[in-house]
Amino acid sequence: MARITYIEHNGTEHVVDVKAGLSVMEGAVKNNIAGIDADCGGACACATCHVFVDEAWLDQVGSRSTMEESMLGFAQGVEENSRLCCQIKVSDTLNGLIVRMPESQR
Ligand code: FES
Repeated sequence: MARITYIEHNGTEHVVDVKAGLSVMEGAVKNNIAGIDADCGGACACATCHVFVDEAWLDQVGSRSTMEESMLGFAQGVEENSRLCCQIKVSDTLNGLIVRMPESQR
């Protein structure tokens, strides 16, 4: 279980507990958090689960896969800390994770 803070582009914060084994995207969708549409259901094929990972957590979430990297090419406003959160698996070590949603996902 990991407590994850999702921050919408308008600043609204959602703090939820997400079961280990789910993706960060699934944690958002299960809790009806706005800003993560996840149109492809987690197949790394839509880029509507784009988030900015808080700098303090970049090492813990790991790096982008080649497929994720190319899919991010379709997202707007991509930064160094951009990730597709369907590709981040939740584990206990991510307890406290903070992600922010981009302006394009409201
Ligand atoms: Fe579609 Fe993540 S849900 S790329």
